[in-house]
Amino acid sequence: MHDYHIAVVPGDGIGQEVTPEGVRLLDLGGELTGSYKCHYEYFPWGCEYYLKSGRMMPDDGLTLLQRFDAIYFGAVGFPTVPDHVSLRGLRLPICQGFEQYACVRPSLLLPGIQSPLAGKRAGDIDFVVVRENTEGEYSGSGGRAHRGLPLEVATETSVFTRSGVERVIRYAYNLARKRRKRLVNATKSNAQQYAMTLWDEVFDAAGLDFPEVKTERVLIDALAARFVLKPESLDVVVGSNLFGDILTDLGAAVCGSMGLAPSGNINPERQYPSMFEPVHGSAPDICGKGVANPIAMIWCGAMMLDFLGEQSAADLILSAIKACTASGETLTPDLGGRAGTGQVTEAIVAEARRQAK
Ligand code: IPM
Ligand code: MG
Repeated sequence: MHDYHIAVVPGDGIGQEVTPEGVRLLDLGGELTGSYKCHYEYFPWGCEYYLKSGRMMPDDGLTLLQRFDAIYFGAVGFPTVPDHVSLRGLRLPICQGFEQYACVRPSLLLPGIQSPLAGKRAGDIDFVVVRENTEGEYSGSGGRAHRGLPLEVATETSVFTRSGVERVIRYAYNLARKRRKRLVNATKSNAQQYAMTLWDEVFDAAGLDFPEVKTERVLIDALAARFVLKPESLDVVVGSNLFGDILTDLGAAVCGSMGLAPSGNINPERQYPSMFEPVHGSAPDICGKGVANPIAMIWCGAMMLDFLGEQSAADLILSAIKACTASGETLTPDLGGRAGTGQVTEAIVAEARRQAK
């Protein structure tokens, strides 16, 4: 029996609504497999905390999180606080401070879910985007001068380091090796002649160590079109922070809903805790209505368990999610259903119990 210490940060908006649902499944996975128990500590950080304290998290936030096995994170951002303040105050310092350099975002078309793309069936879309998660366009390097004057200038400098590029690209190769052995390099080296040529060179050089992985270099604009026109041709895609951000919303959309897309911010060396959070964000437009789709958050829990080594529980939870979407009886409005958040969780819980028998 393993004990896991999990830091839970529900955060803002629907993060507050979906996090308890995910925790239910984490507990259930432990109960049904008898393999582990999760111990939680809750951190009430986010925009409300900011309005009271002037900070998104305390100054020693990273020190507080450091000793946990993993972080289970809801969402960050609310209209009460400018987005760049909330993001820079909470999600980014954790990803950067804990070297969670591989942001892993699966796009899998679940059974029973209607893709907006015609003729796609369950499993036709099954790829993973590995997004660089600590530098690139999100490095925070730049500034504004002469504010408000006609000569105002703003710079936002992308920063790409050889070591930063190499570590995420190698992670992606390793992942491709475990999957269908195809890796796409999302690039824009035709226009971005410094950073993206470095990126391409590192990608090609690392490939020498993975001869069994078939690679392609695809420009980001053409790749966006391919996500829509031929998603079944994709296995693993590796891209910079911003490219990966954009591609993964597209990946979620072609799989039927933002409410289904999980993500893991991974520190592969396990020197620091990794963080698991849905792609969807805080969704202020539907928050408080009890209709947020809990599936992405529950699936994040499965990813977290998988990362912790609890394969059986992870498989059981994903399989229960699939059974729930396949039956189509209990779905939230983003999927055309009329169920509330808690009802979907109930359906997944019941299915997990049934399958575990
Ligand atoms: C994501 C989100 C964030 C990002 C937002 C909230 C800043 O879109 O996790 O994909 O761009 O990183
Ligand atoms: Mg995004």
